[in-house]
Amino acid sequence: MLTALVARSAGSVKRNAAGALTTAVRAFTGSPALAHHCETGGSPATVNGVSVEVHNEGGSKRVLVTKELPGRRWLDILVHNDCRVEICTDPAVILPNATIVKLIGDKCDGVVGQLTEDWSDELFGALKAAGGKVYSNYAVGYNNVKVPAATANGIGMGNTPGVLTETTAELAAALTLAAARRVVEADVFMRAEKYKGWLPTLFVGNLLQNKTVGIIGAGRIGTAYARMMVEGHKMDVVYYDPYPSKLEDYVNAYGEFLKSQGERPVTVKRVDTVEEVLRTADVVSLHCNLDADTKHLMNKERLNMMKEDAVLVNAARGPVVDEVALVNHLKANPNFKCGLDVFEDEPAMKPGLRDCPNAVIVPHIASA
Ligand code: GLV
Repeated sequence: MLTALVARSAGSVKRNAAGALTTAVRAFTGSPALAHHCETGGSPATVNGVSVEVHNEGGSKRVLVTKELPGRRWLDILVHNDCRVEICTDPAVILPNATIVKLIGDKCDGVVGQLTEDWSDELFGALKAAGGKVYSNYAVGYNNVKVPAATANGIGMGNTPGVLTETTAELAAALTLAAARRVVEADVFMRAEKYKGWLPTLFVGNLLQNKTVGIIGAGRIGTAYARMMVEGHKMDVVYYDPYPSKLEDYVNAYGEFLKSQGERPVTVKRVDTVEEVLRTADVVSLHCNLDADTKHLMNKERLNMMKEDAVLVNAARGPVVDEVALVNHLKANPNFKCGLDVFEDEPAMKPGLRDCPNAVIVPHIASA
């Protein structure tokens, strides 16, 4: 029961985060953080020297939440189900394991944690020793969780699939457009007051209309992104995925519709190799999981297979791209562009990336 509850409450928060946060901010003018504190009314305390905010002090099950989360529906659900909820308020953005171990303490039934935390044997062992039964990763991706370590310690594990499909697809589309049309470069140029008048050669970009978009990993997010590029820009799709995607039926039907309107029909093709996608597509967007097979999937050799003026987008996980190879590629090929939401050594960037004008870089905000 607690397993389902913690996983479900953490999952539901993303769906409701925007609405709940907006309501709170409207109700209490001031910062969202202040609004959260006023509305939820937890009491400050410390656990082994680490600061927390406690809700429903008398709850019989202790649930630790390692970061303040947006909205309050998740909190209502947990409190309603007799949980004492302790939200860590330590100012460190990324909590080291030592801090999480202190927070788990001697008795902890469940934890809602973050993708920035290293949930492996050390933390699952500490949770088990505290009588814990469940860990919920406040994320869709769970490459930060060693599932076998959870299993070995008898801890159930949940994540939040489905809550950020559209937001991530939209951010990938935003990165694609920003990179292809050089939006950030042009913005920087304007702010530096370098604009002296219109010129035919000023920030010439890539037109996406009727070009080919390549998808590596056509799951929920890859499919949603592909549909945005197909419907918005009439792009053909080439994709690599171990399984055929229902995207095919959709694109084919959309192609028929376009034909009925006297327009060029869009096409879709599933190919046998990642390399075929890279050679064919004008834009390549990565939507695969990070695991041993996909680490550095985009290495020097594969980057070199792409068109010299292609756009590469990564809103999946940083280590899918060999970032050093990417920096070298961006430098050697000024017409090549990329849009990155994630980084290999997040939050750090590899040396030189920030100086590449042909890279659009944002701080892992696809689910925001
Ligand atoms: C964000 O990156 C997530 O996996 O939820």
